[in-house]
Amino acid sequence: MRIFREKDYDAMSRRAASVIAGEVVHNPSCLLGLATGSTPEGAYKYLVDWYKQGLISFKDVLSVNLDEYVGLAPTHDQSYRYFMQSNLFDHVDIVPEHTRVPDGLTKDAKAFCSEYDAYIRSKGYVDMQLLGIGRNGHIGFNEPDDHFVKETHVVDLAESTIDANARFFATRDDVPKQAISMGIGAIMGAKKVLLCASGEDKADAIYNSVCGPITPKCPGSILQLHKNVVLVADEAALSKLIAAGVEV
Ligand code: PGA
Repeated sequence: MRIFREKDYDAMSRRAASVIAGEVVHNPSCLLGLATGSTPEGAYKYLVDWYKQGLISFKDVLSVNLDEYVGLAPTHDQSYRYFMQSNLFDHVDIVPEHTRVPDGLTKDAKAFCSEYDAYIRSKGYVDMQLLGIGRNGHIGFNEPDDHFVKETHVVDLAESTIDANARFFATRDDVPKQAISMGIGAIMGAKKVLLCASGEDKADAIYNSVCGPITPKCPGSILQLHKNVVLVADEAALSKLIAAGVEV
């Protein structure tokens, strides 16, 4: 695992954006695996900026997103489709039909999930998968569990995830209780993984993912088995690794 140690959120965002931009420049028709949440927001801002400066184009890029809340329409301002439109897609030249975000309103989740996986497989898997990490170590919405789930699936969100995401909703009760998430199979099938983290509240999750036992209790720990992971994190998120004497 290659680790980029960055000073703060902005430096982390700039570095993450550079890694993504590098992929797009080298492989203009790549399949990007994209993520939502506070972590990638800054990186998306850089990518939009660089697109506006004519430095990068997404015109042949394909994308698949990691997850979506069950029950939220694409127009809901907390849906992940809405997040992707407003943070990236609406501001760059990506072709709308080339972007996929799980459908939170699907009537047939099982069929939807297997079609999502079939699409990813048909493209030879994702070229670069961007990941944030939950405080509990989740990647996508693969929550701590007693086993890893390989396929795209409907997941019951952990109470800690509902707590963490309540800040985006009027009340905690408004946070959806389920999501559709890409499984560990599609994530581990990605040719490259770009894991990003910022802030002290991610320090345990990062430490456990990098140094802890490989266990579904900390889903991020599976990344130790992936051959091509780049971790871009700020010093606060790396603080437990640094304190343990890991060279970063
Ligand atoms: P965050 O979420 O980027 O909003 O911290 C990351 C995650 O839960 O995967």
